[in-house]
Amino acid sequence: MSTPYRVAVIVGSLRKAAYTRRLAHALAGLGESRITLGIVEIGDLPLYDQDLDEGVVPAAWTRFRAEMKAADAVLFITPEHNRSVPAALKNAVDVGSRPYGASVWAGKPAAIISLTPGSLGAFGANHHLRQSLVFLDMPTLQQPEAYLGGAGSMFTETDGFADPKTAGFMTTYLSRFADWIAKTAKA
Ligand SMILES: Cc1cc2nc3c(=O)[nH]c(=O)nc-3n(C[C@H](O)[C@H](O)[C@H](O)COP(=O)(O)O)c2cc1C
Repeated sequence: MSTPYRVAVIVGSLRKAAYTRRLAHALAGLGESRITLGIVEIGDLPLYDQDLDEGVVPAAWTRFRAEMKAADAVLFITPEHNRSVPAALKNAVDVGSRPYGASVWAGKPAAIISLTPGSLGAFGANHHLRQSLVFLDMPTLQQPEAYLGGAGSMFTETDGFADPKTAGFMTTYLSRFADWIAKTAKA
């Protein structure tokens, strides 16, 4: 079997007990063998400021950019903040996009899962992020879409999926994402 694709997972919430982080763990337990999932942390990234890129570049930016460059693909798992993405996630997107001409995102296959304890599935966050990924030239999985509601009862205590139907849907989702990476990843 060929080496699995390295998928960098970006979790949009900074909260320790975040449902989005628990989802990342639950996905890793589903056993899609064509990919490995590894969270790349964004909580320590200073707010993007071009002056820093032209002066003393923060170590956290350098670490983040290097980890993202090493990844074959990116899975964004985001909550919704005021019908958009959390500021920390947008900041990570901005940090990765610069310096101009050295974006870590260009050409990298991506997928977006949005999650909320509410019932509307965080559609707004998903599509605001999608807008940035178009500009950043990331081929982004379109189907199946993943707008997950009811996060409060989604996980077992050990971060498995409480409902086999959710596990089944997420298994299909990861399989489709692995197909998508194989189709769109640059050699
Ligand atoms: C500033 C803020 C804005 C929020 N706005 C929304 C929203 O627009 N839509 C929504 O479904 N939930 C919203 N929520 C609730 C989040 O979905 C909820 O806090 C969720 O648990 C965050 O994800 P996490 O568990 O991964 O941290 C908001 C929460 C915060 C703190």
